[in-house]
Amino acid sequence: MDEKKTHFGYEDVSWQEKQSRVNQVFSSVAKRYDVMNDLMSLGLHRLWKDEAVRMLSPQEGETILDLAGGTGDLSKRILKRMHGRGRVILTDINLNMLREGVKRFDRTGQFSDLDYGVVNAEALPFQDASLDAITIAFGLRNVRDQATALAEMFRVLKPGGRALILEFSKMKGPLAKPYDWYSFHILPKMGQLVTGDADSYRYLAESIRKHPEQVVLKTMLEQAGFSEVHYRNILQGLVAIHLARKA
Ligand SMILES: C[S@@+](CC[C@H](N)C(=O)[O-])C[C@H]1O[C@@H](n2cnc3c(N)ncnc32)[C@H](O)[C@@H]1O
Repeated sequence: MDEKKTHFGYEDVSWQEKQSRVNQVFSSVAKRYDVMNDLMSLGLHRLWKDEAVRMLSPQEGETILDLAGGTGDLSKRILKRMHGRGRVILTDINLNMLREGVKRFDRTGQFSDLDYGVVNAEALPFQDASLDAITIAFGLRNVRDQATALAEMFRVLKPGGRALILEFSKMKGPLAKPYDWYSFHILPKMGQLVTGDADSYRYLAESIRKHPEQVVLKTMLEQAGFSEVHYRNILQGLVAIHLARKA
């Protein structure tokens, strides 16, 4: 019987191998993940995350799931916007990433407003129509079965609920060429210096190129059942923020 195939960056791999390779990437970089984000984006990822939370517009009293939440950057911002009168569930498939995030909340004393757990975006352990909003930042690109993950997001959202995807996307314009050069020549070297792992940052560059571009992702969200799907490009599409609603 033919084994189901997918890709890990530019490599063709089996379905099983993909998840374990993605897990290896994030286990390897977990401790230096935040430092590396600041370095490789010159701190810009903070502004992109601020903008994503502004677009999501969290309301007091809401329950919001942060999928593939890693070290908790979005969860932290959402909690801040809700002034402690809402619930955020920080989740990730990788315990090492989640552990770094939870440590951080512990230090800032925001722990009491936060739930957390290991969750695979492809199979959400939540009841139908139970959540007000879901975010996934720089996570969907790493998920094997993106259509299933989007369908799961749709299932667990309440009617009127919002899904927000912040992700690297297809850059169009004069910055695209220099960005390609930076991605494939500088990024892996920087990864080697900071985390001792060039391959994980080579995977980052490749996985961005394999990720569905803006319009395709919009269609995928519509196919999962979402309406009012729109997106905003940042820096000529280096990053895109998709926002969708469950009618
Ligand atoms: C680039 S990090 C993003 C972390 C955080 N959201 C941020 O913006 O900094 C991607 C995360 O996706 C997680 N991930 C990969 N596949 C996943 C899946 N199937 N379900 C949930 N999380 C997953 C990884 O473990 C990793 O922590």
